[in-house]
Amino acid sequence: MKRLTKIAFLAATFSLLACSYHEAKHQTTSDVGQPTPTYKYLAASVFSSCTDCHGATVQKKGVRLDTYADVMKKVVAKSAAQSPIMEKMTDDDDPMPPDSAGGKLSDDKIKLVEDWINNGALNN
Ligand code: HEC
Repeated sequence: MKRLTKIAFLAATFSLLACSYHEAKHQTTSDVGQPTPTYKYLAASVFSSCTDCHGATVQKKGVRLDTYADVMKKVVAKSAAQSPIMEKMTDDDDPMPPDSAGGKLSDDKIKLVEDWINNGALNN
């Protein structure tokens, strides 16, 4: 490798490394030290269990949970305790999803939503 090419290659590698370090540093963490999930992650792994009844085609009780704006109608950012979506997901007598559709989600999934809300419910 010619000397100049080598230098350019090294410079590119360093700037890539610097970028990924910068990103990692800015990732938010929850109180237990786990990375806070993104909205995109929740949409794919948690809210996807809701959209059969709260999506583009069916909207039980007028609730839609397939877009960020619609989810936010049932969320109080930074307060999972005051968020109707949490109330429904943790309701033992009448949970969401309903028992007829598999019932309450796992504690882990519920905790992910809780962390996301308490961290500001970002559209990320
Ligand atoms: C099989 C259909 C079905 C699924 C799946 C489902 N829901 Fe529902 N949801 C309903 C029905 C029916 C109602 C209205 C009756 C009620 O409130 O229990 C409702 C009502 C709600 C309400 C509004 C309550 C109110 O009083 O305004 C919220 C919030 C909600 N669901 C959240 C969710 C969430 C979050 C999920 C996924 C984790 C989910 N639902 C999955 C059927 C469903």
